[in-house]
Amino acid sequence: MAVYRILEEHEPSLREKAKPVPKITPNVLKLLDNLAETMYSAGGVGLAAPQIGVPKRVFVADIGDQLYELINPVFLRLSEEAASENEGCLSVPEKYGLVTRPLSVVLEGQNRLGETVTIATEGYLARVFQHESDHLNGILFTDIADAVYLRDYEDDDEDNEDEDDDDMSGGADMPGDIGEDRL
Ligand code: NI
Repeated sequence: MAVYRILEEHEPSLREKAKPVPKITPNVLKLLDNLAETMYSAGGVGLAAPQIGVPKRVFVADIGDQLYELINPVFLRLSEEAASENEGCLSVPEKYGLVTRPLSVVLEGQNRLGETVTIATEGYLARVFQHESDHLNGILFTDIADAVYLRDYEDDDEDNEDEDDDDMSGGADMPGDIGEDRL
């Protein structure tokens, strides 16, 4: 396994549409391992293959409950009900933004064994899945955000904002400030 450099906003590879994985080879398994290790190393909660320069339809996510590894993910369902929450991205470290997305999803993909898995979820994990799927289509949250803000690192020391009162309507999984997480 290896920790890879995470591509940033200005790098053209992030804008490519990733290609489906026709067959799960040892290289794909290695890609899954490297994605997870890079995500954990960066303190992120999701990472898509294009973010480490690999244009394949693969992503990993872990919001604290378990590691999800998805190959060729597609949404079978996106709810009409939507929610607007702050989002960050490992590839856009200087910014966060308010993004409106469907609240619940049904995602289908393959796991590392080549088995088809279907995940129905809502709230934070549904948002992470959508953010990572966007990466597979060359889309960054800054493209679709209602508003984008610069992170103010200096203020972090002065103000204790850990307990600030965010709108928790997105679901029980929603952490205090999702803008602090990077996907
Ligand atoms: Ni991201």
